[in-house]
This record gives sequence, structure tokens and C-alpha cells, in this order.
Amino acid sequence: PKVVYVNAEGDERVVDAAVGETVMSAAVRNGVPGIVGECGGNNSCATCHVWVRGDFADRVGGPGDLEDDLLDLGVEDRRATSRLGCQIKITDDLNGLVVDVPPTQA
Ligand code: FES
Repeated sequence: PKVVYVNAEGDERVVDAAVGETVMSAAVRNGVPGIVGECGGNNSCATCHVWVRGDFADRVGGPGDLEDDLLDLGVEDRRATSRLGCQIKITDDLNGLVVDVPPTQA
């Protein structure tokens, strides 16, 4: 499945992700700027914060409890569509997923 990462300038990076990996790991594997993944996907660093675009927000769903707390504490600009990239598992259903990378991380 394809995942599209958009930076603050509106530049898109299209990545071929594998089913079962996460929005964070696919980004790190492909060197997408701004997705650091410092804690290795353990839901504890928030350096994988993204804003999920448009109708994908519904399909991706909301954060879990732990993730919700970390989003409150650890990110600069939390929005309704904020998620931690390491907590979004790629599925075929999410092919074409578009996420914005917050400028503070780039
Ligand atoms: Fe650390 Fe996602 S990689 S919270």
C-alpha cells in the first residue's frame, strides 16, 4: 500500500509501505524527514506525530488511551486528526493514506 507524507511546504513523498508495518516505520525506512521514531514505536516519544488527512481520518480511527495521553503531553500542535505514526498499522484498506508531517518535526 502507498502512504503519502506531506511536509509543511506541501511537498509529497510517496512511500511503498508493507502491510503490517506502521506509518512511522515505513517513513523511517524510506528516510522521510520529520518522522524520527526515537522510541522505536513504543508509544513513548511522540516524534512520529502526524495529522491524518481527510476521509482517511475515519478509516484510521482515533488514538488509544496511552497514545491519547502522549498526544496531550508530547506534541506541539495537537489537532482532531492527530495520531502517532507508530500506532497506525498499514493495511490494504489504507492504500493511498495521506498524512501531514508537522513542521516542528522537520
Ligand atoms: Fe515513539 Fe511513535 S515512535 S511514539
